[in-house]
Amino acid sequence: MSRQRVAVIFGGRSAEHEVSIVSARSVMAALDPVRWEVVPIGISRSGAWLTPVETRAALEAGAVAFREIGRPLLHAGEALAALAACDVAFPLVHGTFGEDGTLQGLLEMAGLPYAGAGVAASAIGMDKALMKALFREAGIPVARYSVIRSWEYTLHQNMSIELIEEAIGYPCFVKPANGGSSVGITKVRSREDLPGAFAAAFAWDDKAVVEQAIVGRELECSVLGNEQPEASVVGEIVPDREFYDYASKYDPASRTELYIPAPITRAVADDARQLALRMYQVMGCEGYARVDFFLTTDDRLIANEVNTIPGFTSISMYPKLWEASGLPYRDLLTRILELALERHQRRNAR
Ligand SMILES: Nc1ncnc2c1ncn2[C@@H]1O[C@H](COP(=O)(O)OP(=O)(O)O)[C@@H](O)[C@H]1O
Ligand SMILES: [Mg+2]
Repeated sequence: MSRQRVAVIFGGRSAEHEVSIVSARSVMAALDPVRWEVVPIGISRSGAWLTPVETRAALEAGAVAFREIGRPLLHAGEALAALAACDVAFPLVHGTFGEDGTLQGLLEMAGLPYAGAGVAASAIGMDKALMKALFREAGIPVARYSVIRSWEYTLHQNMSIELIEEAIGYPCFVKPANGGSSVGITKVRSREDLPGAFAAAFAWDDKAVVEQAIVGRELECSVLGNEQPEASVVGEIVPDREFYDYASKYDPASRTELYIPAPITRAVADDARQLALRMYQVMGCEGYARVDFFLTTDDRLIANEVNTIPGFTSISMYPKLWEASGLPYRDLLTRILELALERHQRRNAR
């Protein structure tokens, strides 16, 4: 088979800009050079698109974040021409303006095949309120939760607090509906913690989700496929602190541990894999996604979230779970890009 050009798009306008660059570096280093020619396209924090030459230069200089070079999207002629000359795109921008359906929408408009979830599944996966509503509707167990808008909280602070105390109770988690990497998330133990927690969440989004704190373990499962997705072995995260926050995810000094496979019974692992596939399909995911849940002390599984562009470094949970399932990193990347091309062909054949 001839080599195909892959646009790896990364960086971007979210709190996960740096993480995205780390993910993209690993992916680009691992993509099979016999099968794929990499065209790197960086996006700065302000949303400017870099050309492949600028992107490569930044990577070679060891950049952990893109400087404000590049041009706004509609003026980024050279970067867009490079994109247009590609056979497939691999969006690796985590969070807003990348994982949330916006970049996917652009690629749809452009008629370019791309890896991972489509527009709707990406948008739902990025919005914890929509995602939970969809799971609840499908009968998938989720933690008790309420959605509070910033204007509601500002206008009716006391009522909002009463509602939380009645419907959810303490401890609870306050999160921006749109977020990732635990940014803006606070564990709230009492009424006094609420104002700070809402301020942290509303710094990222006008919509917050307040959730009952689940006592239990955190499990993750990798899913891969379009119409007939498959689930990997199940992994477990044991954060080195109260919860899996930004530092426990990315601080090199973090003592968070990943167990692959998770030390759970076969029956629980089978249930988790089934639940992962259901969550993936209820959301309408395609390509790949990482599915996260809680396992309560009495062995019940509770859905947490689906990440449509999960961390993708070679030591990230998503690829590691596949490696443990017999699919090496390089082959996983090829499979994800093949799934993108397959979806595109199927749609074009209609
Ligand atoms: N309802 C909950 N009960 C217990 N822990 C939670 C709950 N919600 C979030 N957490 C903790 O916070 C972390 C981040 O929350 P999550 O909803 O997964 O957001 P993100 O999209 O930022 O990863 C989780 O991995 C878990 O450690
Ligand atoms: Mg999470």
